[in-house]
Amino acid sequence: MSPDLVVHSARQLLSLASPEGPRRGPAMGELSLITDGAVGIQGDRIVLVGNNQEAIAAAGSGSRLIDASGKVVMPGFVDPHTHVVFAGDRASEFEMRLQGASYMEILAAGGGIMDTVRATREASLGEIVNQSRKRLDRMLAHGTTTVEAKTGYGLDTESELKMLDAIRLLDESHPIDLVPTFLGAHAIPVEHKGRVDEYVNLVVEEMMPALEPAGYLDHQPPLFCDVFCEEGAFSVGQSRRILQKAKDLGMRLKIHADEFNSLGGTALAVELGAISADHLACTPEKEIRLLADSNTVGVLLPGTPFGLAEDHYAPARKMIDMGVAVALATDLNPGTCYCESMPFILALACRHMGMTPAEAIVASTINAAHAVGLGHEVGSVEVGKKADLLILDIPDYRHLSYRFGTSLVQTVIKAGRVVS
Ligand code: NIG
Ligand code: FE
Repeated sequence: MSPDLVVHSARQLLSLASPEGPRRGPAMGELSLITDGAVGIQGDRIVLVGNNQEAIAAAGSGSRLIDASGKVVMPGFVDPHTHVVFAGDRASEFEMRLQGASYMEILAAGGGIMDTVRATREASLGEIVNQSRKRLDRMLAHGTTTVEAKTGYGLDTESELKMLDAIRLLDESHPIDLVPTFLGAHAIPVEHKGRVDEYVNLVVEEMMPALEPAGYLDHQPPLFCDVFCEEGAFSVGQSRRILQKAKDLGMRLKIHADEFNSLGGTALAVELGAISADHLACTPEKEIRLLADSNTVGVLLPGTPFGLAEDHYAPARKMIDMGVAVALATDLNPGTCYCESMPFILALACRHMGMTPAEAIVASTINAAHAVGLGHEVGSVEVGKKADLLILDIPDYRHLSYRFGTSLVQTVIKAGRVVS
């Protein structure tokens, strides 16, 4: 049977075809580039990857052809760390921070994340879905086809489940695939202020057991659990308690570690076999070594220091040279980083973290797919994988991080359909 759709004549087809597992070290700079490349799609799957001759031979009279002459074709971006689902915004906090207040001071005073918690608790499920859908629309237009989405603005059992419901509804109704993460330990809600252990008890003894009857533990692939391990949020001991419980329930693990202070969260992630450790802006060298020797992906979020107008970027160059499998994400959230564009994150990664344009592409496609446990399904252009493709109106892949501030994405194909 001939393909339904053939994208042909790509000046550069970045296939990212990879062996098992995420790329590391020198392989992080390799794109498996095909010149004059073509991709054949049937239904939602890739059925052919090769050069033009092969594609023309395979195309039938019913095949729709898309000419990508002079352009770059690559897999859709996977954004492996977002807080895209929330209600309201924090524009006034942004202005306070510009005048000198720090992010963690605002949180300690009951603002920051807690402002979004108030807005999200008050909003109906429909309101949360509608507000978040607009963000997903913009992410898709900027080339993102798979998004990890965290809870963490409910912080009570009912509201956390409401957030999981919102993520599920969006996954079912939006072209972007959403990968859900339970982040009940994102902050200490006001009603538990000063009594963090009491709140950890609630997370472990009430919230997490409620995931099963609500149907969230049957989810395949399994639900992720994340914790904000940070001074002013959860200690390593508290994080361990929550993540161990998650592991016992069959969940997969993530952690927010070393965003502002190094507490040992990265070592904890490696010890517990987390799929990813995220932020890593101030991870000490000995924990970078642990990460490099593990299967845990380091998810770096350069939009966050940029969004906070700070300069504590993660040492990506050093991490890659030491052998860490690095991925990139937006961290899209209403506080530290309201950024819906993966290309902008690539531009920051090259300028502030010493990554090359090729490494930034690997980190935002195949390695990002591994950071959400979907390395077998998305993140590269390979036969059998989901047909999530971008056509970029650029003559060379390096334009992707070289240019910034406008969208260079001309066409987005999600699961075999042209969606943007
Ligand atoms: O990854 N630091 C914790 N969580 C988010 C910010 C969430 C917010 O401020 O609403 C982050 O930066
Ligand atoms: Fe985050």
